[in-house]
Amino acid sequence: MSTARKQEIRRITTHQLREMKSRGEKIAMLTAYDFSMARIIDGAGIDIILVGDSASNVMAGYETTLPITLDHMIYHASSVVRAAKRCLVIVDLPFGTYQGSSGEALRSAIRIMKESGAHAVKLEGGKEVKDSIDRILSAGIPVMGHLGLTPQSIYKFGTYTVRAKEENEANKLLEDAKMLEECGCFGMVLEKIPAVLAGRVTKSVNIPTIGIGAGADVDGQVLVMQDMLGISKEFKPRFLRQYADLNGVVTGAVSNYIQDVKAGSFPNEKEQY
Ligand code: KIV
Repeated sequence: MSTARKQEIRRITTHQLREMKSRGEKIAMLTAYDFSMARIIDGAGIDIILVGDSASNVMAGYETTLPITLDHMIYHASSVVRAAKRCLVIVDLPFGTYQGSSGEALRSAIRIMKESGAHAVKLEGGKEVKDSIDRILSAGIPVMGHLGLTPQSIYKFGTYTVRAKEENEANKLLEDAKMLEECGCFGMVLEKIPAVLAGRVTKSVNIPTIGIGAGADVDGQVLVMQDMLGISKEFKPRFLRQYADLNGVVTGAVSNYIQDVKAGSFPNEKEQY
């Protein structure tokens, strides 16, 4: 293989993400959960694929992210890793696999890294999960934080509305963001918080912030792939930009297929042996 070709497929690293922040280059991240979609997204040049626990909603049809297990996440992550040649692959530690003790958190993170081949893990929360973050980092596993709306705590808050609108919550979020940086996290997701606060957090840390519903003054953006491709029709929050109508495209294709099969026009002579 030529040097040029080797360089072409050199994988994005956590170090490079930090450099992107310093030179003001925005980071593009999307979720993926399977081989086929991950191959398309990686080929299109995405910087990061997040194997999010949103798989619980969009792949398994659960109402929340709580039911998805570590085994499920490893299955999704290993499918994505087999497809991803260039991007960094980050995997969510699912609910209940890191909050109990730092030892359990480390065991869960090690399973993800060993069994899926992913490059980093993400977990939700601030100082409440500091011990778990420290322990995972001590094993050399890169960690991304996640602040603001943390869907694994949905039953604590009761709604998916914008977080940290009040001053005390905003101050806690700022402190947590600094703590994540001091611990050694390589980045953090900021979900559904006021744009002004996200901008303040982004300025106050040297690690990249990746926003979802957090405005433009962050270092990168993430969306759930099914949402941005218009696969799920029902979910249309204000922050979502829909880049395609795959629901319409697939419905049209499937209807045409059904029609052709019923009419006996598929397969034709050229489509048989
Ligand atoms: O699980 C997920 O998809 C996420 C993103 C919304 C950031 O955590």
